[in-house]
Amino acid sequence: MNNEQGEDMLLSPRLKAIADLVPPSRTIADIGTDHGHIPLYLIRQGRAEYAIAADISPGSLDKAVQLIQQYNMGHCMEARLGSGLSVIAPGEADTIIIAGMGGILIREILEEGEEAARSAHILILQPMIGQEELRRWLLNNGYSIVDEELAAEGDRIYEIIAAKPDKEARGYENEIYYDIGWKLVEKKHPLLKEWIQKKIRSLSEIVRNLGNAKTQSASERKHELMEKIRMYKEVYDSCFR
Ligand SMILES: C[S@@+](CC[C@H](N)C(=O)[O-])C[C@H]1O[C@@H](n2cnc3c(N)ncnc32)[C@H](O)[C@@H]1O
Repeated sequence: MNNEQGEDMLLSPRLKAIADLVPPSRTIADIGTDHGHIPLYLIRQGRAEYAIAADISPGSLDKAVQLIQQYNMGHCMEARLGSGLSVIAPGEADTIIIAGMGGILIREILEEGEEAARSAHILILQPMIGQEELRRWLLNNGYSIVDEELAAEGDRIYEIIAAKPDKEARGYENEIYYDIGWKLVEKKHPLLKEWIQKKIRSLSEIVRNLGNAKTQSASERKHELMEKIRMYKEVYDSCFR
């Protein structure tokens, strides 16, 4: 097995897709690193010269500390304990990765660490939920979305967003692109068809469970979801028919 194959095996498809979106960087900061596999991979690939692996939890960070020791990476990798972007100085990291958390928590981390976030060249974000809210917040708060990726792992498809500070950033004209990342549609991502089908199935399931909604709020929710399904189908048809 060659070195590259060995390193690929260390990363799951989700982590590999996150790492693959990272451009050549001087210093990357992986906020909420846990196992530390992404920064280690980026250093070993030569994609980052220096890596800061940070986490709020001492137990989680300890895994990254062990990894740094195991691979003798102390000269180019560092573990820092603390919340969000408080662990880095503005301008210290040109690439910031925040993965495996909810979109709202990612947004809060970017808001609280605004100076460090805005001084980075690129943010690689992988929200587990709340993707729509995160896209909306980014585009309405001076970040443009420059790329998106999907990664299939188990029975899930994960969304990964690459964003850049951009004073000219504007929101999407079509609301559905906060749900279905526009960049995925633009490049007709190979997993997009399956991802939209999954979404339509899960929204249809919720609509079925709402049945003959009796309360006004349930009935409103049902109509909202049906409208969303219609919009998903419209994008699906425009891409795949
Ligand atoms: C599910 S793990 C994700 C680990 C890794 N980033 C990944 O994608 O596989 C979430 C990690 O984020 C850390 N975390 C949660 N809130 C945080 C915060 N405000 N600042 C830094 N780390 C945080 C947790 O301690 C945990 O280790």
